[in-house]
Amino acid sequence: MQVVRELDVVKEIIRDLKNKGMTVGFVPTMGFLHEGHLSLVRTAKSENDFVVISIFVNPLQFGVGEDFERYPRDLERDRELADSAGCDLIFVPAAKDMYPPGYATFVDVDRLTEGLCGASRPGHFRGVTTVVAKLFNLVSPHKAYFGQKDAQQALVLKKMVQDLNMDLDLFILPTVREADGLAMSSRNKYLNSGEREEAPVLYKSLLLARELVARGERDPLIIGKNMEDLICSARGAVVDYLEIVDTEELKPLKSIKGRCLVAVAVKFGTTRLIDNIFVEV
Ligand code: PAJ
Repeated sequence: MQVVRELDVVKEIIRDLKNKGMTVGFVPTMGFLHEGHLSLVRTAKSENDFVVISIFVNPLQFGVGEDFERYPRDLERDRELADSAGCDLIFVPAAKDMYPPGYATFVDVDRLTEGLCGASRPGHFRGVTTVVAKLFNLVSPHKAYFGQKDAQQALVLKKMVQDLNMDLDLFILPTVREADGLAMSSRNKYLNSGEREEAPVLYKSLLLARELVARGERDPLIIGKNMEDLICSARGAVVDYLEIVDTEELKPLKSIKGRCLVAVAVKFGTTRLIDNIFVEV
């Protein structure tokens, strides 16, 4: 497995591979890899000849006062994990090469980015779409893989690929969880032991929503109130948002119908966790 930092070098390697007729799968990440990332890599490996992971803590998608500086970074650890999952190349660009002085071009997806995490983190998705568009241009994969854990991100990127006629297929794979239901995330590392114990409440609240729907409840407000009560019973948990939206426009629903996305963001101290599930009637 190679580790490549230079933008030109990665482009050249991929060009050579494609000239030989090989297919390229791509998993963009910010590193500090966990089983969620590795599940994407394994699927990519099973569907492509060559798999690239990018590791780049993208300054553009972090707001002022967010965790850019303290975001966990450990390339040695990532290198071993990526290798064990079947990755062929890790691309680790430097911020100064991705955004050199005078950098001026940004990608914005309208509407889909307004609610949920877009409302809590202004500018976040502009940073995500801009960096992923750049990474797609550099790696030019046949297939790219993203996690359902970041449901809004995945939909926004799908829209970008569609609207900008990008020549690749984007796949969204299921959320990988710890044994107690907590969605795996690099940010789980921030939780102290007390917070870690309480953190599965996000998933519990989502399962509660599913159970209420199964019992016939169709009012998002009632479901939301039950979820909020459960989350607030966890020590230190503060709800950032809690929404039931449709799966195409991500607009809040007046009543549960068809396939819906239940999404939550909860803060424990300075750590913000997100999770979601689908419910269907
Ligand atoms: P990061 O948080 O490192 O996540 C990289 C990819 O792994 C994303 O597609 C994310 O949805 C997926 N992922 C994270 N946790 C997961 C889990 N528990 N189960 C399944 N998949 C999971 O998301 C980003 O980085 C960045 O925004 C990025 C797209 C790389 C742009 O900078």
